Amino acid sequence: MPACPWEGFFSAAQLKRWSEAIPLRFACRRFSAPAGVDQQITLAYTAARVSLPGVRLALLDCDSNRLFLSLPFFPRIEYARQYVAVIIDTGIENAQLHAGVSGEAMVLEMSAMGLGSCWVQGTFRRSAVDIPLSSREKVAAVIPYGQPSSKEGGRSRRRKPLKALCLDKPETWPNWAFQAAESVRIAPSALNSQPWRFSRSGGTLRLSGRGFGNINFGIAAMHIECALNTQPHIWRFSSDNKGLLITYKEET
Ligand SMILES: Cc1cc2nc3c(=O)[nH]c(=O)nc-3n(C[C@H](O)[C@H](O)[C@H](O)COP(=O)(O)O)c2cc1C
Repeated sequence: MPACPWEGFFSAAQLKRWSEAIPLRFACRRFSAPAGVDQQITLAYTAARVSLPGVRLALLDCDSNRLFLSLPFFPRIEYARQYVAVIIDTGIENAQLHAGVSGEAMVLEMSAMGLGSCWVQGTFRRSAVDIPLSSREKVAAVIPYGQPSSKEGGRSRRRKPLKALCLDKPETWPNWAFQAAESVRIAPSALNSQPWRFSRSGGTLRLSGRGFGNINFGIAAMHIECALNTQPHIWRFSSDNKGLLITYKEET
């Protein structure tokens, strides 16, 4: 069974800080200024600290017009001067999932610092990412960041109700399971697809869904870690490898 290396990887203080940042985060696509020098230093530390196996987070300067694509029906990223390249080692098991966890830790740290950011997996030119890669590495996504040009985006979150993500009745769940699923419900996902599905059996919550194992599911795992933090729980993959199981450990 593959490991869940995010379990116990982050400190309680980090998870608390990021948990408080979850409601503040939104997909920021327009920036007014770059992050300051002190903020860059903090982010460089964070990038090194949060990288799980198979993930490299590189902080790079950005030529927004060159890096981001202008596509019909997709909002363009504008005036970004910095970005994180989320690089994965394709030879490492579950590197995409790990990239979701590590990248979302960066995103939430940026929100906690008052910076705007946006996951971008589709609307950028991979050839414009200016960093040497080894033969096994590829750029999974980029995350432009900087001072947000407005705080408006936070108010326009479009999400499915929790019931639509649950295969059984969330109103019958214990509070920890409800909190975990609710923290995922407001997470970002590619094309706002919200692919996550939850079911509960006894003291175990199962996270699965279309495209299980991709970045969206790593983001979900990060949000669950934030929601549960020091509440005793363990992670494992389901036996069919199509889901993650979170088991709550009642304190004795
Ligand atoms: C893995 C991932 C990939 C994404 N790719 C893009 C992208 O290519 N272009 C873009 O403009 N937004 C992209 N987004 C941003 C989503 O569209 C956005 O998070 C979603 O619509 C929800 O909005 P919110 O983040 O403001 O809550 C991506 C988000 C995620 C999590």
